[in-house]
Amino acid sequence: MSIDLPFHRSWLEDDEINEVVDTLKSGWMTTGPKTQQFEEAFRDYIGCKHAIALNSCTAGLNISLALQDFEPGDEIITTPMTFPATANVIVLNNFKPVFSDIEKGTLNINPNGIEEKLTSRTRAIMPVHYAGHPCEMDSIEAIAEKRELIIFEDAAHALETKYKGRKIGNMGHTTSFSFYANKNITTGEGGMITVNDDALAEKIRVFRLHGLSRDAWKRYGNNGYAHWKLEMPGFKYNMADINAALGIHQIKKVDRFLKIRREYAQKYDEAFKNIDEIETLEIKDYAESAYHIYVIALRLNKLNISRDEFLNALQSSGIGVAVHFIALHLQPYYAKTFNLKPEDFPVATDYSNRILTLPLYPKMTQSELDRVINTVVELINRHKKAT
Ligand SMILES: Cc1ncc(COP(=O)(O)O)c(C=O)c1O
Repeated sequence: MSIDLPFHRSWLEDDEINEVVDTLKSGWMTTGPKTQQFEEAFRDYIGCKHAIALNSCTAGLNISLALQDFEPGDEIITTPMTFPATANVIVLNNFKPVFSDIEKGTLNINPNGIEEKLTSRTRAIMPVHYAGHPCEMDSIEAIAEKRELIIFEDAAHALETKYKGRKIGNMGHTTSFSFYANKNITTGEGGMITVNDDALAEKIRVFRLHGLSRDAWKRYGNNGYAHWKLEMPGFKYNMADINAALGIHQIKKVDRFLKIRREYAQKYDEAFKNIDEIETLEIKDYAESAYHIYVIALRLNKLNISRDEFLNALQSSGIGVAVHFIALHLQPYYAKTFNLKPEDFPVATDYSNRILTLPLYPKMTQSELDRVINTVVELINRHKKAT
């Protein structure tokens, strides 16, 4: 099998490349002026008070939890339709992930199901803005307020996302973004945590670099050695300037990239809207999506082919695809450890069996987009069940 239309290609131009070269020539590789520049640009883009650069979104989620004084076994409610990182950090901090089923149409956590998952041990809700579509935050915030729960947002997919005109990155206690290679902007690997609380921001800055006193990154700089103080044991989660060099330029292109993503997603929607065998995802009135991934759900009862056969047929024709996601309650670790059954989360189970993600990125050409559409339509026509 040879994929000639890949699932993703990053859009990197001379300005990113020259900035990396400049970083290499400067002799300063790790957290430094370029990281600071990227943080400031990101903070301005989101419109929040603090943006702190990390080496992944997972680091942001983990710091968010590690800084809490919850008790071991305390519960955090999240969606099963997510990447393992979201729930893994809960487990690794000795808390319990409590999954709550998703809603049809957006595949986001269904706020109507959250209340019945609340117990005396519930401490937080971790919503994931799936595919870049915002969760229904008014309802989630109302539950959180009533029960004094903290909201930690997983915004790995949601760089450009707005909910009722409010930019994601301002609402939760912390919001974590990803700049992994296939994200809407990339630093190769990287993440950002945004917060509006000054004291929390300060703690995170210390916590991301071993727990050393602020500005310890300057310890081998031109101003000579300075003593640092260990304020608490922390992680090694800082972003390096080599990565930030990409971010500085990628963030300037975010609107240009989004425009193409939106246009391509709308072309897919238009092409599939009259095909009964394909369910496309819904964009709610309250949403401005980041269009991070383009997901379709096959109506398997109308087809004589499984999702995996469909996916393999696309790959055999040279088109890269993916699945976001096989829900976490179906993954061996979560199923076994928390005794979860497919029928516990019927909506997430159903979608897990029939979704697939088509290529969607600004570097893709119009003719590549047409090729994906034509191949999908051809496959559907070939595998429609006889009526
Ligand atoms: C929903 C979600 N959360 C978290 C992550 C982790 O991001 P990172 O690789 O930057 O740690 C991902 C990665 O793709 C993701 O899709």
